[in-house]
Amino acid sequence: MSYTAPEGQQTYQPGAARSGKPRIICDNLVKIYKIADLEVVALQGLDLTVDPGEMIAIVGASGSGKSTLLNILGGLDVPSAGTIEVSGYDLLNMNEQDRVQYRSEVIGFIWQQTARNLLPYLSARENVELPMTLAGAPGFASKAFAEELLDVVGLSDRMDHKPAQLSGGEQQRVAIAVALANGPSVLLADEPTGELDTATSAEIFSLFQNVQRELDVTIVVVTHDVEVSDKVQRTVSIRDGRVSSEVLRFEDLDGDGDSRLRAEEYAVLDKAGRLQIPSEFIEELQLERRVRLTLDPDRVNVFPDRNGQQREKE
Ligand SMILES: Nc1ncnc2c1ncn2[C@@H]1O[C@H](COP(=O)(O)OP(=O)(O)O)[C@@H](O)[C@H]1O
Ligand SMILES: [Mg+2]
Repeated sequence: MSYTAPEGQQTYQPGAARSGKPRIICDNLVKIYKIADLEVVALQGLDLTVDPGEMIAIVGASGSGKSTLLNILGGLDVPSAGTIEVSGYDLLNMNEQDRVQYRSEVIGFIWQQTARNLLPYLSARENVELPMTLAGAPGFASKAFAEELLDVVGLSDRMDHKPAQLSGGEQQRVAIAVALANGPSVLLADEPTGELDTATSAEIFSLFQNVQRELDVTIVVVTHDVEVSDKVQRTVSIRDGRVSSEVLRFEDLDGDGDSRLRAEEYAVLDKAGRLQIPSEFIEELQLERRVRLTLDPDRVNVFPDRNGQQREKE
């Protein structure tokens, strides 16, 4: 599978994309929402890097800051502090004109609500053509590219259907084609399978996987869906506006030479040396306020401060 964007559009350059520098760099990212006198800290020092062509899933409880992060990555919302660079754009210090250009050239966005992604009175083909038409691509080129993209998402036989004539899963396929129409280097999806059943969700994730592999697009997907875990190399957990842990998956060969997926969970260490200890660990050892750290040649040990707890009880 391969395609070329119409003339005047950004084209994919798989080779260039592998140039070593991360596609997304968030360093100590902060977002504070102010409503009247109230401040909500939605992101409090989030660190994340994503490599070109990588696909990651973001998981976390409701209200943990997932959508805030995605909206900032998509240039729809402006961060309050920290560093964030995507495809060479500094999203913290960007003027409005650059922001518009960034959104239309670098980013493809897919929302959870299927209805939000598509215009109801346009056919699938017209929905995919629209971003190209708006970008000023010639009609014949947009038409050919739209057909190619709809073929990529497996809908070549539904091109002239309107959204209402398509199932939820098919609508999200069209939404992915729309998001790819401007030849983005980063695809962002906020719970794209939230309204779909398990089987359809799995199909949509396989499609993301294809797009990532074949078109070399960097993909960040927010999801509640545990089924996706075997479809991404990395799952990033967000807790209270910070990355709390990352699960990496590796392909291993077992005794019979068959490949098996192995998952390992990591805590994330920021530049200041901070890390979050999982709440299960904290509860199990009743860690609070202070812990004792000791260094061995190959590890750091964390001990409860039994003396301190004792002193406070006395
Ligand atoms: N536009 C906004 N104005 C004020 N508070 C917001 C806004 N968007 C999100 N928040 C708050 O920021 C926090 C993170 O929200 P959000 O990023 O939507 O979480 P998630 O997507 O993980 O459920 C929540 O406390 C939410 O209420
Ligand atoms: Mg959300």
